[in-house]
Amino acid sequence: VTLARDGWEILRNRSIDVADPWAFVHGLIGARPEMVEVQPIRPRPDGRSFASTTGFTPLHTDSQDYRGVSPALQIMVCKRAAASGGETRLVDGRALIDAIANRDPQLHTALVTTPRRHRFYFGDVISPTMSDKAGHRRVITHSPLAPADPVGESFAHELSSAPTIELPVATGEILLVDNHRMLHGRNAFLDDQREFVRLLAWIHPRERMSTSESRLAVVLELLTGTPPARLAAREGISEAELYAWRTRALTAAGSALELRE
Ligand SMILES: [Fe+2]
Repeated sequence: VTLARDGWEILRNRSIDVADPWAFVHGLIGARPEMVEVQPIRPRPDGRSFASTTGFTPLHTDSQDYRGVSPALQIMVCKRAAASGGETRLVDGRALIDAIANRDPQLHTALVTTPRRHRFYFGDVISPTMSDKAGHRRVITHSPLAPADPVGESFAHELSSAPTIELPVATGEILLVDNHRMLHGRNAFLDDQREFVRLLAWIHPRERMSTSESRLAVVLELLTGTPPARLAAREGISEAELYAWRTRALTAAGSALELRE
């Protein structure tokens, strides 16, 4: 089972220390990510989103946007598995949409052309169910919340009978999921011990990032905990230059966030 062939992969006997998330992702994929986001996945008494409850989670993609596209890779680091339940469920969304092309061409056309409003906790995403985005091909978007549009309802119906992979991820294992291709969900569990760390990684589709894109990724690493000495050495620049990049990036970000009428 490999990520490129199957859309998912489980890694065992590797470090699950994610204190340095950018280096962790770099080590897994063999390349520098464009952006990394980290979130603990564990039930909380005041939990609202599916990530912070113990309930069944319907199939969906993680579609937080960064520069026009959702994260290419979801990395689920299992700190502690549930005593029972909590298995991950996966469906190959691209394979499902290809299968729909044969038996329901009209629905297939709607899935790849009709923009839908996908409601997420982090905000709405307006997009066809599968489309090309920011240089990435055939990116799936689907919210865990019940759809309110006819195309979404039809797709949810297709998902309910799609071939589903059910994976019990054990403590110490790492599940990699191609988040542009696969939908994921989770079975309910009873105990409150289950704990994952979820890393979302954006991976630049082109061979090389532009100079400004590359510098922005370095600044993001600096801001999210990668030691400056290590970054400066890797980039072949002085720490003074690294801090100048940070200042320029944050000055521009500050301007972009000014209140507008
Ligand atoms: Fe998710």
